[in-house]
Amino acid sequence: MKQFAKKILVTGGAGFIGSHVVRRLLKKYPDYLIVNADKLTYAGNLENLIDVDSLPNYRFEKLDIVDADSVHSVFSKYEITDVIHLAAESHVDRSIEGPMEFVMTNVVGTANLLQAAKDTWKGESNHVFHHVSTDEVYGSLGDEGLFTEETPYDPRSPYSASKASSDHFVMAYFHTYGLPIKMSNCSNNYGSHHFPEKLIPLMIHNIQHKKPLPIYGKGDNIRDWLWVEDHASAIDAIFHNGRVGESYNVGGLNEWTNIELVRFLCQLMDEKLGRKTGESEELITYVTDRAGHDKRYAIDASKLEQELGWTPSITFEVGLSKTVDWYLENQSWVEKVTSGSYKDYYQTMYANR
Ligand code: NAD
Ligand code: TYD
Repeated sequence: MKQFAKKILVTGGAGFIGSHVVRRLLKKYPDYLIVNADKLTYAGNLENLIDVDSLPNYRFEKLDIVDADSVHSVFSKYEITDVIHLAAESHVDRSIEGPMEFVMTNVVGTANLLQAAKDTWKGESNHVFHHVSTDEVYGSLGDEGLFTEETPYDPRSPYSASKASSDHFVMAYFHTYGLPIKMSNCSNNYGSHHFPEKLIPLMIHNIQHKKPLPIYGKGDNIRDWLWVEDHASAIDAIFHNGRVGESYNVGGLNEWTNIELVRFLCQLMDEKLGRKTGESEELITYVTDRAGHDKRYAIDASKLEQELGWTPSITFEVGLSKTVDWYLENQSWVEKVTSGSYKDYYQTMYANR
């Protein structure tokens, strides 16, 4: 095998954020081998990487991280030097319907990767295991304050509980075995290739097709939105220059209530689709609230900014406009990823709302 400077296992590289991370690394670091290991669940699509999958430093392995033997085999096959771990079940509503898949992939899968890294690297310090996590582990904020790296964990949903558990295993492997870990906890991402069950891509799809726009509860829950490519640049910075054993919060200081965000999206799309102002807003439909719906997430990313000089590169207005354009131009992608088993799920989850 050609001598690569690093041989990085990126898990979940066929998903939303993972595909942006893989694309960035492949292009920016041609001397790194990037092994994308992904189970290809409903959320993973190799088509997300069609523009880069013929690059000579790219490999794909279909892998279920719950299968410990297969995880170990991939480590030895490629002599993996580093890990960027994104593979996860990621949708809160699905975790409420069926938490066990989240326990298996997010907790057991992460533990399998940690164990394989520990067995392979045998105490050497010249490696990095970067665990990609979420701000949802901190629980729910009131009207004031921001999540910092010191905020105590207080997960509320099965999704955030499974991610919190995986974060604890990552830190435990650092403290107990000295595994060289780094961790990032990011706010809500948006951008291209986002599976259309999450708020922003679902709303874009429904506005385009004049379907109801389901707003949970009163629509006053708040999320802090970050452009997915800025998350990828933060991961790049932390992976290379972050301190071992540390976690870094990643966010855009960009809080929106869900209803404000959806109204803004309606205005943007009315303009882009040549509809009269206010036409799409008529599609807004208030539906039963999500069980245990976290009120507010907001990130203090000053540690990342001060230590590594990272800041978001674009405003929400520009990023959202680009995102809408991508979805309007890539209707066939949406149709492809929402056909098959997703259709049944969608019908069960949303038909009666
Ligand atoms: P996603 O659901 O779009 O992609 C997840 C990927 O993981 C898919 O490609 C899927 O096939 C793969 N996968 C799932 N189970 C697997 C298994 N058992 N073995 C191997 N691969 C498996 O998720 P995303 O939104 O891209 O999130 C990626 C990571 O970032 C997750 O760890 C998530 O918790 C974290 N995160 C997401 C956000 C966000 O806003 N989406 C914010 C902060 C952190
Ligand atoms: P989501 O994109 O699922 O991300 P998360 O729950 O991980 O933050 O949801 C973002 C917000 O939008 C959250 O407060 C729930 C709300 N929401 C709706 O109001 N309607 C919807 O159809 C969806 C999917 C989410």
